[in-house]
Amino acid sequence: MKTHLQGGLREKTVQRGLLFILALAMSAPALSQTPSSAPPDDAAVRERADTLLKEMSLDEKIGQLSQLFDFRPEKTIDDAVAKGQIGSLLFVTDPAEINRLQHLAVDRTRLHIPLIFGFDVIHGFRTIFPVPIAMAASWDPAAVTRAQSIAAMEARSVGIDWAFAPMLDIARDPRWGRIVEGAGEDPYLGSAMAAAQVRGFQGDYIGEPDHLLACMKHFAGYGAAIGGRDYDESYIPETLLYNVYLKPFHAAVKAGIGSAMSAYMDLNDVPATGNRWLLHEVLREQWKFKGFVVSDANSVKSLERHGYAKDVNQAALDAFTAGVNMEMAIGFTAFSKGLPPALQQKQITPQQIDDAVRPILEMKIRLGLFEHPFVDVGRSKQVLDMPEHRTISRGTAERTAVLLRNEGKLLPLSKTGTRRIAVIGPLADSQMDTIGSWTFQEDLPETVTVLAGLRNKLGSQAGIDYAQGVQLARKFPSFFDNIFHLKTQPLWTPDEAKDEMSKAIQLAGSSDLAILVLGEAQNMSGEAASRESLDLPGEQEQLLESVVSTGKPVVLVLLNGRPLNIKWASEHVPAILEAWYPGTQGGNAVANLLFGDAVPGGKLPFTWPRDVGQVPIYYAHNTTQAPDNQGKRYWDEESTPLYPFGYGLSYSTFSFNDMRLSKTTLKPGETLDIDVDVQNTGSSTANEVAQLYIHQRYGSTSRPVRELEGFQRITLAPQEKKTLHFSIGKDELTYWSTAKRAWVEEPSTFVVWVGSDSTTTFRSSFTVAE
Ligand code: NOJ
Repeated sequence: MKTHLQGGLREKTVQRGLLFILALAMSAPALSQTPSSAPPDDAAVRERADTLLKEMSLDEKIGQLSQLFDFRPEKTIDDAVAKGQIGSLLFVTDPAEINRLQHLAVDRTRLHIPLIFGFDVIHGFRTIFPVPIAMAASWDPAAVTRAQSIAAMEARSVGIDWAFAPMLDIARDPRWGRIVEGAGEDPYLGSAMAAAQVRGFQGDYIGEPDHLLACMKHFAGYGAAIGGRDYDESYIPETLLYNVYLKPFHAAVKAGIGSAMSAYMDLNDVPATGNRWLLHEVLREQWKFKGFVVSDANSVKSLERHGYAKDVNQAALDAFTAGVNMEMAIGFTAFSKGLPPALQQKQITPQQIDDAVRPILEMKIRLGLFEHPFVDVGRSKQVLDMPEHRTISRGTAERTAVLLRNEGKLLPLSKTGTRRIAVIGPLADSQMDTIGSWTFQEDLPETVTVLAGLRNKLGSQAGIDYAQGVQLARKFPSFFDNIFHLKTQPLWTPDEAKDEMSKAIQLAGSSDLAILVLGEAQNMSGEAASRESLDLPGEQEQLLESVVSTGKPVVLVLLNGRPLNIKWASEHVPAILEAWYPGTQGGNAVANLLFGDAVPGGKLPFTWPRDVGQVPIYYAHNTTQAPDNQGKRYWDEESTPLYPFGYGLSYSTFSFNDMRLSKTTLKPGETLDIDVDVQNTGSSTANEVAQLYIHQRYGSTSRPVRELEGFQRITLAPQEKKTLHFSIGKDELTYWSTAKRAWVEEPSTFVVWVGSDSTTTFRSSFTVAE
């Protein structure tokens, strides 16, 4: 990697390691002299790892299977690194500190094996991009690849070699806080986003310069935590596992991902970290995954708490034999305690230990860590400061926003017509709430809030006043508040709260327009941020309704990572823009979107419920014996969503015409071509996401009413028309049949739709016949 090749700071220090490596190299096939410029040869990598394995003691091997959080005491960590008892550290982000620790590993251990440094690089490192659910809303894999490649470059520049991302958990219950970290409810969109992120993080191959190792997580089923309660058990039937929950993971494996993280919870009563069916049969036997599996934090030791393993030693044995290679832990690993006696008692073999260590060594070799273990601190500063990263972050945020409502074409706003703008809400000027969860304040000081973005945009063209209106606070604090160094305002007294609310309403009343920025604070979305309600937290609903009652035009900008109950707003607020947690440049992006310098084109990656009582609700539900009253399943509320999957408005309009199928009957295994014309029928250049859905009319099992099987995001000038091409074949038509317990492509008739969202009625049909 270029990063590590520059600068002389590591030269002397690598010498000792090099002597050993040279000795190894003489007995192993030569690796490319510039491992960063081309993928190394698989056989050479393996042989080199095997040569190293032959030299290693049992303790050294178990060291490679151990990863610790770098939560001090420093001395303990330092000693363990220098003794080779740790193969990986996580949560170190300072390049000088990374070099210091790496020196301990490279200079002081017998075999000079470098550490691999991991971190939660979820949606950016220094430059923060929109949260993953937002990136999925872009329906733009290329944009997502670009964003994650910048995240990779920044992280790698400080010495982080391994990102604990992408999170590929399908989430169909928005009470689950971690819905923000994934791509939503759909396996096809989720798979596209999975592959896009793997490309972004890893590049074309593991070891490509300025990229790092990706880690798909949480394998598998975490998103189905019962009741949306984080960490609780999941029960997922085989049909949903194969046809929905596992699909994005399989896509990541096909895209060449090098590592996986086991999930915390029980899957069908077996904890994922001890689940041999998942980690071995599916991942390695069925999918031929060649990378390594790391446990989630402490999840090996937790097998005991789960009531699954008798004690810590048994927990180590269970996780290890299930297929966990490396244990992520705080303090100490169960592996270091439990594997030596297991070996002694012949519960596991030395061969199994070697098989677990090998892929870890292989990844270190592929990443070029043996040759270039240290980073150039000077260069990392330059990389982190690259202005183009901020520009790309802003562009990404513009592509992720979803326009939910725009009555009377209130948006885009005119830059000159509005003299006084009231910006109101607890999230309007909060940097932390603009960047969202899994951000560690690297970029906080320069994060642009919505208020700042509007001021940047309008300068002296309009008077912009701000009122917070209400405060947001969790009923129960999150343990992440400390980790993210959350600074919270002291809570207002009831009198102060009343005053602040009145000030905000008065401000709206005395302005020409109110822009409300509401949603969820950063710590209300993410890990350990599940909720039993989807209402706007705190007094935000009251604030919203009061501001609307002033009669002034109101734009609602939402910052959040899950669908919220905006039923009232969807009928009374003329313009609603879902901006998610838009990242470092979020405020500038929102201002561009509101004032028409960018046109919203994102689409929802989940079904937006009317209220929490509809949850779980997703578009790909099964066909039933009563399809006609699908919207009337409840007597007290529609059973249709507030906004369907794939929905999103634009400042322009589009029409879909003339669907042409290359044939109407095909044999199993054959491919069908579909052409369709899309036209921009409005007056601004804008983006549309053409979405293709299919439905299998009958078969060995009931099939969903429709399933996404293709999409394309395109830009069209006013009145411009384009012909889009899709194809449908074996991949799209095959599914796991629980009746046949097999992957099948069945003779049947199929309906195919193309359009702007999952409710499109523009359709055709075809038949698959033997
Ligand atoms: C626990 C989380 O579940 C996982 O997503 C994360 O990567 C690890 N902690 C490390 O921070």
